[in-house]
Amino acid sequence: MTISSELFKAIMRNYPTGVAIVTTVYDNEYYGLTVNSFTSLSLDPPLVLIAIDKKLTSHEAINKSNVYAVNILPDDMKDLAIRFATAPREERFRGLKIKTAKTGSPIIEGAIAYLDCKVAAKYPGGDHTIFIGEVIDAQVMNNKLPLIYYNRGYYSIKQTISL
Ligand SMILES: Cc1cc2nc3c(=O)[nH]c(=O)nc-3n(C[C@H](O)[C@H](O)[C@H](O)COP(=O)(O)O)c2cc1C
Repeated sequence: MTISSELFKAIMRNYPTGVAIVTTVYDNEYYGLTVNSFTSLSLDPPLVLIAIDKKLTSHEAINKSNVYAVNILPDDMKDLAIRFATAPREERFRGLKIKTAKTGSPIIEGAIAYLDCKVAAKYPGGDHTIFIGEVIDAQVMNNKLPLIYYNRGYYSIKQTISL
């Protein structure tokens, strides 16, 4: 017996996450999408993972380029999170200040931090692929507060309950 996708989504909606834009460069073209499946995996060596829907253009790009960068979004970049989840690919990088990471993946100015990764392994995950990334370079760029995704909405952390 499996649960319905409605129940699955209703459960997962209660689990808040940060928000990142994952970028890559393939065939001299930039690709990027909004992601919340990002998590750290290993400290030594430094590994992260993202899970990407096999149907997406970005899946093909990352699968072929074998590199990606994770741009961690601050709470003043909600509009960019929406843009990288919904706008046509040609419009996503329009007007953005970009620098290039060591892998060639684009880094978005205004992001809190980035991790530049080489794909170290790929695992099947149902309708997604898990791309394990070995972090080859990284930088914290500012001390802004992170953007939070919860119950299909965007939030900021305004209050500390406990330290
Ligand atoms: C907050 C948020 C988190 C998302 N996380 C993921 C994710 O982890 N993996 C994924 O495949 N799609 C995720 N998506 C959906 C993609 O951002 C969306 O399908 C995007 O349009 C894909 O771009 P592409 O079609 O150019 O590849 C997320 C969307 C939002 C709004």
